[in-house]
Amino acid sequence: MLLNVLVFLVLGSVAVKSQQPSFNDDVLGLIFFKAGLQDPNAKLQSWSEDDNDPCNWVGVKCDPITYRVNELHLDGLSLSGHVGRGLLRLQFLKVLSLSNNNLTGTVISELSRIGSLQVLDLSGNALYGTIPDEFFSQCGSLKSVSFARNNLSGQIPDSLSSCWGLEEFNLSYNQIKGQLPSGIWFLRSLQSIDVYDSLGGFHRILGAGQVPAWIGELVALESLDLSANRFYGRIPFSLGNLQSLKELNLSMNRFIGKVPSWMFSVPFAQVLQVLDLSSNGLYGEIPSKLGVLSSLVFFNVSRNWLFGSVPTAIGELKAIQVVDLSDNMLNGSIPSEIGGAVSLEVLMLQRNFLSGKIPTGIVNCSSLTTLSLSENNLSGSIPTGFPNLSNLEYVDLSSNDLTGSLPKELANLSQLMFFNISHNHLHAVHPKPIVLNPNSSDSINSSSRNHHRKKIVLSISTLIAIGAAAFIIIGVIAITLLNIHVRSMSHAAASLMLSGAEDFGCSPTNDPKYGKLVMFAGDADFVAGASALLNKDCELGHGGFGVVYRTILRDGRAVAIKKLTVSSLIKSQLEFERELRTLGKIRHHNLVALEGYYWTPSLQLLIYEFVPSGNLYQHIHDGPDGSSLSWQQRFNIILGMAKGLAYLHQMNIIHYNLKSTNVLIDSSGEAKVGDYSLARLLPTVDRCVLSSKIQSALGYMAPEFACKTVKITEKCDVYGFGVLVLEVITGKRPVEYMEDDVVVLTDMVRGALGNGRVKECVDGRLWNNFLAEEAIPVIKLGLICASQVPSNRPDMDEVVNILKLIQCPSDGNGNGKEEVVD
Ligand SMILES: *[C@@H]1O[C@H](CO)[C@@H](O)[C@H](O)[C@H]1NC(C)=O
Ligand SMILES: *[C@@H]1O[C@H](CO)[C@@H](O)[C@H](O)[C@H]1NC(C)=O
Ligand SMILES: *[C@@H]1O[C@H](CO)[C@@H](O)[C@H](O)[C@H]1NC(C)=O
Ligand SMILES: *[C@@H]1O[C@H](CO)[C@@H](O)[C@H](O)[C@H]1NC(C)=O
Ligand SMILES: *[C@@H]1O[C@H](CO)[C@@H](O)[C@H](O)[C@H]1NC(C)=O
Ligand SMILES: *[C@@H]1O[C@H](CO)[C@@H](O)[C@H](O)[C@H]1NC(C)=O
Ligand SMILES: *[C@@H]1O[C@H](CO)[C@@H](O)[C@H](O)[C@H]1NC(C)=O
Ligand SMILES: *[C@@H]1O[C@H](CO)[C@@H](O)[C@H](O)[C@H]1NC(C)=O
Ligand SMILES: *[C@@H]1O[C@H](CO)[C@@H](O)[C@H](O)[C@H]1NC(C)=O
Ligand SMILES: *[C@@H]1O[C@H](CO)[C@@H](O)[C@H](O)[C@H]1NC(C)=O
Ligand SMILES: *[C@@H]1O[C@H](CO)[C@@H](O)[C@H](O)[C@H]1NC(C)=O
Ligand SMILES: *[C@@H]1O[C@H](CO)[C@@H](O)[C@H](O)[C@H]1NC(C)=O
Repeated sequence: MLLNVLVFLVLGSVAVKSQQPSFNDDVLGLIFFKAGLQDPNAKLQSWSEDDNDPCNWVGVKCDPITYRVNELHLDGLSLSGHVGRGLLRLQFLKVLSLSNNNLTGTVISELSRIGSLQVLDLSGNALYGTIPDEFFSQCGSLKSVSFARNNLSGQIPDSLSSCWGLEEFNLSYNQIKGQLPSGIWFLRSLQSIDVYDSLGGFHRILGAGQVPAWIGELVALESLDLSANRFYGRIPFSLGNLQSLKELNLSMNRFIGKVPSWMFSVPFAQVLQVLDLSSNGLYGEIPSKLGVLSSLVFFNVSRNWLFGSVPTAIGELKAIQVVDLSDNMLNGSIPSEIGGAVSLEVLMLQRNFLSGKIPTGIVNCSSLTTLSLSENNLSGSIPTGFPNLSNLEYVDLSSNDLTGSLPKELANLSQLMFFNISHNHLHAVHPKPIVLNPNSSDSINSSSRNHHRKKIVLSISTLIAIGAAAFIIIGVIAITLLNIHVRSMSHAAASLMLSGAEDFGCSPTNDPKYGKLVMFAGDADFVAGASALLNKDCELGHGGFGVVYRTILRDGRAVAIKKLTVSSLIKSQLEFERELRTLGKIRHHNLVALEGYYWTPSLQLLIYEFVPSGNLYQHIHDGPDGSSLSWQQRFNIILGMAKGLAYLHQMNIIHYNLKSTNVLIDSSGEAKVGDYSLARLLPTVDRCVLSSKIQSALGYMAPEFACKTVKITEKCDVYGFGVLVLEVITGKRPVEYMEDDVVVLTDMVRGALGNGRVKECVDGRLWNNFLAEEAIPVIKLGLICASQVPSNRPDMDEVVNILKLIQCPSDGNGNGKEEVVD
């Protein structure tokens, strides 16, 4: 019915046109086009024949002056049906984009003649049939045409050669056969032509399967991708004429012959950025003139039959990021000059016949993330500067002839995710950790002991995976475990990526140097796979003493694990354990509980209760504005911190490192002070070490830290607490860096309060909603706590009592005592 009306309208449109404003042609055309579509999601609901202003319709754009439709974008709307003739009425259309729908039918030849069409994108549909020969016969305005990912067949029409303005033509992923019409070399504007996965029968038609020489006439071409076709023969000399070419991908063909030397002639060489010749049958040497490719970023000649040496000229490529020479027959040594490639990120040389040492020059490639040298015949030791490559993520040195010991600074490679050194003759200098059950002196029957050991073993491998940086431990542990009793748990060990290394194959003894896990409460049964822990996503944060990760115990409980990064400064095992046992006894509602620890001479992990809701710093400074802490919540946090610290001081423990990132908030909003007393793990509470470790605590540090003659007491915590109080109430950092000024919070508050400008001392987000009768005394208390002279500061016990007095009786019952202060 509707269609009849439409047909009538269209047929009668000659008459209509003479009487109505001409844009009705657009309405008619669009409505007629819509009538030929199925629109299951009603995306074109706004397209109504009653509305004669199509400019507001979905997907329609009009020229702002003439109000004629000039762009139609209906991509990915699940439309099916035909690309109908209604579109032919849109005489001012410039862009027609109908990609990623379900349109069927054949390509109508008149489409290219629509008024002034420049961009036609029909990619990602189900169009079939051939491209009609007339399609391109009048295509003067066309600049970009894509039929990619359809089911078009037949040949590319010769008329393509008349599209003199054509810049891009994409026919990839169709069933087109035959050859490119030779006339397209007249198309001087052509920048890209993509026939990937089309032209499957190309070589049959051409007889030779060679790239036609005239491609070299397309001098404006910037990108030529002939990959994954069946081209064979030599790489044509004429490609050297493509002097604008930035990317050349000839990968996955059957090209033979040498890497052509014209590729390294000026000016071709100066523009080329990407050269992918991988997976062909090229042989011969890699030209030593490689260095002239001054813009080269990506170079892949993997999987050919190249021999000779790795060119020293790689070091001249200042822009190069990726070099893949793997799976060839290269021999000789890796040139030290490679260090000149300062931008190098990926170096793949695996599966060649390289010998000699890993060059020390490689240490200069400081951006290196991926290094694969496996399956060669490299000898010598790992260069000493190797650990300086701090961005390394993936290192495969396996199956070589490397000797010597692993530099222990490798532990510094914090990004490392994969490190394979198996099938070499490397050895480790570290003691071999084994797993001790802290209750092992208890007599348990053998079946339950086995059970227990199995669990602990798993736990350790998981724990150790956290110390991925300290990879050697992983190696040792994994190996030790493999050799003892973990064969049945290959899944756990497999994810540790280290194997082989027969040197580690000793059985455990009672050697006191072995690693040790102690849990103060509960069990350390980690279910999350080691790989999950390696995931950066599990990292909660890091501070002066280490990196913190989160993991899950088998009973579903989460714990936070801190990997200490101050190993070299840690006390002896005996003292370390004594300190931790003291800290392990501390249990208070407002303190983060220490649940256990793991010790080896080079790796120490602390296992803490996991507190879910982030830290105080995030709550104050990072939260979205709308969700800031209320006055009540802030008061509660202050009181909680005070109680926690008072308890610590009762136990004669000084925190030393108070700051808002060390105060965690649990799910009920309660403050839990963490990271207490880690300074005691250091050999001496050395002021220098302390201040360097807790530099981030700038602004919280009591002034006596700077004064060698004043003894540091628990009053230094009171100072930090005072600053925290002011931070919580003002919502400002202890030290704020302005454009050309530094504002110290304590000074700012002291000044403002002195002048009676109370409101300035309260977070703007609280201005409509805080209790002045609580706020003013709390601010004053904060200032007293942050006194310069330690003896002027109250004890934390007193602070708790004062806070309880300040707290209004109505608190928490929402009883309308709130008022606004001017
Ligand atoms: C495309 O249309 C066909 C039939 O017209 C239908 O079976 C198919 O599910 C549609 N596909 C999508 C992605 O809409
Ligand atoms: C593409 O067309 C061929 C015939 O030309 C047909 O056999 C095939 O099923 C079509 N494929 C799709 C996905 O429509
Ligand atoms: C051609 O189209 C395909 C499929 O949409 C796309 O992946 C490819 O990048 C396009 N080629 C060019 C040169 O834009
Ligand atoms: C070259 O083409 C191959 C196959 O199509 C593709 O896998 C590879 O990523 C391309 N190389 C570059 C550098 O884009
Ligand atoms: C180099 O090409 C090979 C084969 O085409 C491919 O497997 C490899 O991933 C490529 N290398 C890089 C670094 O992209
Ligand atoms: C590399 O191999 C070639 C033969 O393929 C040989 O002539 C040359 O001496 C070898 N070079 C080295 C350094 O082994
Ligand atoms: C590596 O860097 C050092 C210092 O910058 C320099 O002396 C040396 O020549 C460089 N080595 C290479 C191979 O570029
Ligand atoms: C590896 O290199 C050593 C010399 O360092 C040589 O004796 C040995 O034959 C080489 N092995 C292979 C498989 O090339
Ligand atoms: C590695 O880094 C350290 C400290 O940054 C430096 O002293 C050393 O010279 C570097 N080693 C090499 C080989 O570059
Ligand atoms: C590696 O870490 C140690 C401390 O563990 C440090 O002394 C050393 O300077 C670091 N080396 C480099 C190269 O960063
Ligand atoms: C070790 O034994 C103590 C008491 O004997 C017990 O409280 C604790 O939970 C045990 N720890 C483990 C990890 O079994
Ligand atoms: C490490 O390298 C060896 C030898 O190349 C290989 O067999 C093993 O699968 C590699 N390990 C991993 C985890 O990839």
